[in-house]
Amino acid sequence: MAFQLGEHGSSIVTAARRAFGYRRGPAMTRGRLITIEGVDGAGKSTLAAGIVTALASRGIEVTSLREPGSVQTAERIRALVKDPGARIAARSEALLYAAARAQLVQEALEPLLVRGRLVLLDRFVDSSLAYQGAGRRLGIAAVRAVNEFATGGLAPDRTLLLVLDPATARARSASRDLPPDRLEQGGDEFFERIAAAYDQLAASEPDRFRRLDASRRPDLVLADALAAIDDLL
Ligand code: TMP
Repeated sequence: MAFQLGEHGSSIVTAARRAFGYRRGPAMTRGRLITIEGVDGAGKSTLAAGIVTALASRGIEVTSLREPGSVQTAERIRALVKDPGARIAARSEALLYAAARAQLVQEALEPLLVRGRLVLLDRFVDSSLAYQGAGRRLGIAAVRAVNEFATGGLAPDRTLLLVLDPATARARSASRDLPPDRLEQGGDEFFERIAAAYDQLAASEPDRFRRLDASRRPDLVLADALAAIDDLL
């Protein structure tokens, strides 16, 4: 069923009401939230652009957003957390991502979903669970709790996990002309912990997650992704 909130089983509208005092109207339409996850360099941006183009050619409108960012306050937090010169403790980092997320939920996601929109989101709570919970060793449960507060319990209808071994992903990131940002400066073990956490998250919620082999050509990854969201369109 659309709009399920993972383990809680309540709808997004219920979550929105709980978090933001939303009232449910009789003719309330319901949107869909699809997220893309994976380690840096796995090809999320390429996939997101491919999905938008493919759906547009079928006359399906989709709003494409990214995390952290997409609304002004969150974009400012994005600049801070990615700044290689910023000194940010692990707990501060988790809270900054959660703050950006809370702003995105309230300002964009929740209104879009209540209006019945299809939203494609590049990273969401699972990124914090993997990067801060496992990568920074803050613990999945602690980071999950912070994010429950930030999002009011909003969970994706489907999550596309781009699976690529961390070494290949890092080589891909390094081949871009840009210097590594603050997160990309993490070592091999940091990214191995992140990749392992993603695997565990996907295994623990098989209904929500679809694993896509991201070592293949982008058009093949896109074809799999489209098949993996077809029931939601
Ligand atoms: P990206 O948009 O280029 O993937 O950059 C976002 C960076 O922030 C990326 O290195 C992953 C990291 N990140 C976290 O560590 N936690 C989060 O919750 C999110 C959304 C991203």
